[in-house]
Amino acid sequence: MAKATGAPSRTGEPLVDNLVDTGRADLGALEDAAIGRAAVAALLPTLRPYVRTTPVVRIDRAELDLPPGPLVLKLEHLQHSGSFKVRGAFANLLTRPVPAAGIVAASGGNHGSAAAYAAARLGIPATIFVPEVSSPAKRARIESYGATLVVGGPDYDAARAAAAEFQAATGAMDVPAFDAAPTVLGAGSAALELQDQAPDVDTVLASVGGGGLLAGLCAGYSPEGGGPHVRVIGAEPEGAPTLATALAAGRPADAPVGSIAIDSLAPRRMGTHTFAVIARLGSGVTLVDDDAIASTQQLLWDRLRLVLEPGGCTGLAALVAGRYEPDPGETVAVVLSGANTTAVDFSR
Ligand SMILES: Cc1ncc(COP(=O)(O)O)c(C=O)c1O
Repeated sequence: MAKATGAPSRTGEPLVDNLVDTGRADLGALEDAAIGRAAVAALLPTLRPYVRTTPVVRIDRAELDLPPGPLVLKLEHLQHSGSFKVRGAFANLLTRPVPAAGIVAASGGNHGSAAAYAAARLGIPATIFVPEVSSPAKRARIESYGATLVVGGPDYDAARAAAAEFQAATGAMDVPAFDAAPTVLGAGSAALELQDQAPDVDTVLASVGGGGLLAGLCAGYSPEGGGPHVRVIGAEPEGAPTLATALAAGRPADAPVGSIAIDSLAPRRMGTHTFAVIARLGSGVTLVDDDAIASTQQLLWDRLRLVLEPGGCTGLAALVAGRYEPDPGETVAVVLSGANTTAVDFSR
C-alpha cells in the first residue's frame, strides 16, 4: 500500500510514495535516441512484480487457412486490465513521483483501464477521461477499479483536452497513453519476454494507434546491446492510418478517425516520440480494412477460442488478410493486445 511522505509536490501537497528505486534518472526525460533495448531491460526488474508474463501459443499458419509456416501468438490480452497498456501505466507510476492529487489519464478505454488498475494497486487516486466512443466494456472496467470516470467529449482529442484542463487545475500527474518514454519502455517489456519465449522469431506484427506498443516492441528488439535482428511491423485500420500518414508526411500528421477499432487505434495523430522511435527502428506498416479485422476476431474465436477486441487483433488481421505475406520458413509473432469487449454472451 502506498503511503504519504512529507515531501512537497508542485501544488504544495504531499507526494504519494509510490517510487521503486530503479537506480536510474527520470525516465520521462529520456531522449528518443536512448529509447532502446538497454533502457527496456533496465526497467524490466521494476515492472516484473506488477505485470503478468503473458503466455505464447505456437501454431501453424495453416490453422488459420494460410500457407503453412510457424506462428507465435503473444497473448497480451490476458494481461491485468485486459490489455498490454498496463505495462506502460506501471512504468509511469513506478518511476515518477505522484502527487497526492493522484493521476489523470485520457484514453479510448484500455489505457484508462490500465492506469486505473495500476493506480488501485498502488493506492493512488485516479481520474480517467474517456471519449463518447469508448465502449461500455471499457467504461465498466475503469469504474470497477475505483477510478473516477469522466466522459470528456466526442472523440479522443476532446477527452485529452479535458484531461489537460483537469491536470492544470488539480496538479494531478498525467499518465500519457503512448507518447512518453516510460509508456514506450513499459510496452517494450513485452518484447523482452517474447524473445525469451520464442527466440526464433523473425518478424513481429502489432497494431498501431498512437504508436506506443510498436515503438516499445521496436525498442525491445533493437539490435543495440545484443538484441536480435527482428523486423517489427505495424498494422492499422484503413480508417485510422496514423502511422501510414506520419510515414508519408515524414512527421506525425492528422489522419482520418474511423474504423471498428475507433476506441483503441484512432487518436487522430500518432506521437512525436513514438514516431521518432518507429522511424529509426521499425520495418514498416500495413493497412487492413474493417472486414478483415472483424473476420479475424471470428477466426480467433472459431479456431482458438480466443476473444479479442478489434484493435487487439489488427496485427493478426494483416496476416490473415494477406497484407503481410511471410516466407514459408519465416517465424512470425503477433502481439494480441487487448480483449475489452462486450462480445461475450455466456447466457446462451
Ligand atoms: C488493444 C490495443 N491494442 C493496440 C493499441 C495501440 O497502442 P498504441 O496506442 O500504443 O499504438 C491500443 C491502444 O489503445 C489498444 O487498446
